[in-house]
Amino acid sequence: MKIAVYPGTFDPVTKGHLDVLQRALRMFDKVIVAVAVNAGKSPLFNVEERVQLLQEAIVHEKSAAVVMAFDGLLVDFVQSQNASAIIRGLRAVSDFEYEFQMALMNRKLRQDVETIFLMPRESYTYLSSSMIREVARLGGDIASLVTPNVEAALKKKYG
Ligand code: COA
Repeated sequence: MKIAVYPGTFDPVTKGHLDVLQRALRMFDKVIVAVAVNAGKSPLFNVEERVQLLQEAIVHEKSAAVVMAFDGLLVDFVQSQNASAIIRGLRAVSDFEYEFQMALMNRKLRQDVETIFLMPRESYTYLSSSMIREVARLGGDIASLVTPNVEAALKKKYG
């Protein structure tokens, strides 16, 4: 069984993330969406909220997609789940340097884990979670960029 881990902060999950997940599901028997507890960011949503928002957002996906929280080194989590690959989305050239560094560091830490980069649909390449949070906070329309549960959760957070 081919298992991949799709890690991120997912604060909150966007349609861009879901697009990458759908592509990964075509390549792997199981994809674990791994929500980083603390990625050095100060997330708006706590880890339980981020996991729940993702679970609700992928309810229509194949059961091959599961959501889990993780703490510590990503490669250790990947190994603990018997996964062989890390999925990352590449949106633009600006993502490349950081992703390249991270992939090589993960390879240094564990040589048998490959990082696979997938491109989301063009219409989602400009998306990021912080931009979604900013637009939602200022009352802009994000309905086409996130799932309804995420839109509702953001509205609730920002009153
Ligand atoms: N659609 C929309 N947005 C996307 C996206 C897509 N397809 N792909 C990436 N993004 C956005 C994210 O929303 C995020 O936006 P933000 O910065 O505005 O919040 C940004 O691009 C990238 O963040 P994300 O994909 O969440 O990853 P991250 O960089 O926050 O997470 C971890 C990085 C968690 C994978 C990494 O820190 C990690 O592995 N941590 C564990 C500790 C470890 O092993 N460290 C060593 C790693 S070498």
